[in-house]
Amino acid sequence: MSVSVRWLGHSACSLDIDGRKVLIDPFVSGNPIAKAAAKDLDAEIILLTHAHGDHVGDSVEIAKRTGALVVCNFEMGDWFMAHGVQNVYQGNPGGTYRNDWMSAKWTIAFHSSSFPDGTYGGQPNGFVIRGGGATIYHAGDTSLFSDMQLIGEEGLDLALIPIGDCFTMGIDDSIRAIKLLQPKVVVPMHYNTFPPIEQDPQAWAERVASETDAQPIVPEPDGSVSVK
Ligand code: NI
Ligand code: MN
Repeated sequence: MSVSVRWLGHSACSLDIDGRKVLIDPFVSGNPIAKAAAKDLDAEIILLTHAHGDHVGDSVEIAKRTGALVVCNFEMGDWFMAHGVQNVYQGNPGGTYRNDWMSAKWTIAFHSSSFPDGTYGGQPNGFVIRGGGATIYHAGDTSLFSDMQLIGEEGLDLALIPIGDCFTMGIDDSIRAIKLLQPKVVVPMHYNTFPPIEQDPQAWAERVASETDAQPIVPEPDGSVSVK
């Protein structure tokens, strides 16, 4: 079994689970740090954490081209269906989407959620994703919250957490989050895309290494981290 995470920049990731592809928050077009092109991204599943433009990104184009199933909250699913994407699975925190090779459980996230056109985008979320023998947490956009301890009890091989500050937790709170989540490996996201979320990821990595039990990995945009 082999599982890897390709970080596309910002919160966008492509998971490879035994050769099958899951995209998360595929914001590539207009993403100043992304190296991949949307037309080259393939997926069977697209997981979305909320409706902001820097997360929905290229989802409509990719879903229409590939036929990927869009897994998102209820209100977002209605918006996708109204925009010509019929292959949608709608859920909300606590629920789990399952198929025969992976699952994704909606977790809470403290943030807001509206589409760029102003449509209400439901409640933001993260996901605990299982597949290929690995468990991965993608936090979405969120502040620190103490129930991260419950998410940590799931046994995380890898956690992707925002560190940019301003719209999400910053570095100080990310250290507290890692202590609650207890992942084996932690990857920072949602930083250095735009001026309000500039951070030094190497300074973050040094703090993670000295203050937590997790191994920090800072990929370059389009770099991959192997999980299993
Ligand atoms: Ni957001
Ligand atoms: Mn965001």
